Amino acid sequence: MDYENILINYENGIAIITINRPKKLNALNRATIAELHHAFEALELDSTVKVIIITGSGEKAFVAGADISEFAHFSVEQGEKLAAEGQAQLFDFVENLSTPVIAAVNGFALGGGLELAMACHFRVASDNARMGLPETSLGVIPGYGGTQRLPQLIGKGRAMEMIMTAGMIGTEKAFAYGLINHMVAQEELLPLCKKIAGKIMNNSPVAISEAIKAINAGYREGNGFEAEVKAFGECFGTEDFKEGTTAFLEKRKADFPGR
Ligand code: COA
Repeated sequence: MDYENILINYENGIAIITINRPKKLNALNRATIAELHHAFEALELDSTVKVIIITGSGEKAFVAGADISEFAHFSVEQGEKLAAEGQAQLFDFVENLSTPVIAAVNGFALGGGLELAMACHFRVASDNARMGLPETSLGVIPGYGGTQRLPQLIGKGRAMEMIMTAGMIGTEKAFAYGLINHMVAQEELLPLCKKIAGKIMNNSPVAISEAIKAINAGYREGNGFEAEVKAFGECFGTEDFKEGTTAFLEKRKADFPGR
């Protein structure tokens, strides 16, 4: 598939997806969501890709939201379909990938933009970033998982306030809230994400994917402990587990086959 709205670069086991509609502050139109789905699916199947980083083009925005011009005249049925399809195609899809996904939030992350960042496994932001769910100011609510993932990440009361006020928060507050894991100068954003990706890549890809599954199960299905037991057991049948434990006992660095 030829992409018109995203770029993908590969670097030592890391794939960097850049949403590339800077004139529209990287707003997520339907075409971009479809391209992102295709790209994430392809990268998940590519065993050379160990970590995915997603960011926005330009210095101003990660993603300034869903493309308002596309849904301004939608009916009730179309609105529901928009949310359901978007969640399945992109937001839930990203959250449930086996490959770790880091959001490198390089500017505005609003509405669907913050929802995309929240669907990623964790977030790192540059100090110019501004985050919020402004949907109630448009007469709608967050529809790409924002009413669920924001309270999961920062707590119910803070999420209620952010959604009700439709306000934006800067990186210091986002860091204090636990919405982002790190804040850095913009030029340090990708280098830091790559450094973290490097640490992740030292570890077993299979174990990481089982950990993602178990962590997500607690939020989605409410049976995280059960999911953890099952995922823990699964690890014992993998070559990665044999290699990891053998390497420890032999006092050498593990070289995980990823199986
Ligand atoms: N959907 C569609 N287009 C968007 C957009 C969105 N979510 N966010 C920004 N754009 C477009 C603007 O319409 C403008 O296009 P134009 O140049 O053709 O007029 C362009 O991106 C630049 O945005 P602009 O508003 O001029 O930049 P700004 O620096 O003055 O303001 C924001 C930046 C982020 C504060 C402002 O763009 C904004 O409020 N965007 C909408 C945020 C939002 O409500 N998102 C949730 C959607 S559910």
